[in-house]
Amino acid sequence: MPQATFNFPAGFLWGAATAAHQVEGGNTNNNWAAWEAEPGRILNGDRSGLACDWWGGRWKEDLDRAAETGQNAHRMSIEWSRVQPTPDHWDEDALDHYREIMRGMLARGLTPMVTLHHFTDPLWFYNQGGWELENAPELFEKYVSRVVEALKEYVSLWVTINEPNVYVVSGYTGTDFPPGKGDMNAAFTVLRNLVRGHAAAYQAIKRIQKNSVVGIAVNYRSFKPACAASPFDSLLARFLHNSYNDSFTRALKTGELHFAAKHVAVPEAAGTQDFIGVNYYTRDLVRFAPLASRDLFMKRFFPKDALLSPTGFIAHVPDGMFEALRWANGYGLPIYITENGVEDAADELRPRYLVEHLHQVWRAANFNFPIKGYFHWSLVDNFEWERGWSQRFGLWGLDIQTQARIRRRSVDLYAEICRQNAISSDTVQRFAPEAYPRLFPEA
Ligand code: BGC
Repeated sequence: MPQATFNFPAGFLWGAATAAHQVEGGNTNNNWAAWEAEPGRILNGDRSGLACDWWGGRWKEDLDRAAETGQNAHRMSIEWSRVQPTPDHWDEDALDHYREIMRGMLARGLTPMVTLHHFTDPLWFYNQGGWELENAPELFEKYVSRVVEALKEYVSLWVTINEPNVYVVSGYTGTDFPPGKGDMNAAFTVLRNLVRGHAAAYQAIKRIQKNSVVGIAVNYRSFKPACAASPFDSLLARFLHNSYNDSFTRALKTGELHFAAKHVAVPEAAGTQDFIGVNYYTRDLVRFAPLASRDLFMKRFFPKDALLSPTGFIAHVPDGMFEALRWANGYGLPIYITENGVEDAADELRPRYLVEHLHQVWRAANFNFPIKGYFHWSLVDNFEWERGWSQRFGLWGLDIQTQARIRRRSVDLYAEICRQNAISSDTVQRFAPEAYPRLFPEA
């Protein structure tokens, strides 16, 4: 069997990603806490509850785990509703808590990447209209300034907004996330305000910290025509790519926001990103469906031959990662993979998913795409939004009754890759032999 070692660039960041609401626990002051309390919103009536109890201090043990298993970075988020629980009150204890976590990361040799908005909004902001408010960008900017002032001695790598496309599509064109609007006009207003909010935050961070590196994380979904010869399928796949994947980052480059058939100029957003953050999970095939008027005349489904995650949420399509990175590379900016992973409680697919996706990252790095780091979603099982606890994305499992962590085999696989800054054929053979022929084919 052919043997080889695929080396990653020197100084590559290897980490996992988490988000405040999904790991902290015990928050009753944001829109998700309210949403979870409404019957029927979350699968099986699940609640985030104590989550991974990071607010209670278990971030320490989890970050120990990350550092002890070869990771050198961690992406986490700050919870706006903790820092600014009411419009006129800033909670210094909460800021101190986050400062302590930052010091904890640095002490463990973990470079922090900090997200300022990861899906949740403070209740006071949400109840006034949230991101539909004309002054939402200014309100966000105030919060961002406060956080950056507080953390600037520890952090210089910032994600202003996580997956604005998912936020809008799930909460405003769709109904899975709060406020469950299902309203295209509201969706466009929110998208525009998120662009404005990002731009305001970008400028504020630069004012406070000149050497900061600031971007967003976009959820990149690969869309391919179900039938390559069909001009309709191809047009629809392109339409989805443009609207879903590309619109936000394009607006941050050009100052022009295009979404579906809508357009607005946001000139202050032009040139406000220092890197492209890519969250890649899976691919959809798209088929023109003339009768499906409620679904924009299309059907989306996973490639037939792809392995699926246990709940059928993710199809294993590693070359979509390469496609995502090629798209990101088109921007001529440094690239971080800010999320990638699979829900898999039994850890059967994850080892293969991990090595085959990282193989595509390695390939992309060899085309000189400027890829700076990879953050696996996630470090430990956490609260999966409208899917509650039904999906398990952690390298470590979590017993939510006891808070016990369960070491999955992928922990040790990922540790070897992080420590070696490489994928070796030996590692693949021991942890994901199914991937061997694809990664190390016979000549
Ligand atoms: C989100 C995470 C989420 C993950 C898996 C991403 O879209 O940023 O918060 O947990 O997907 O569903």
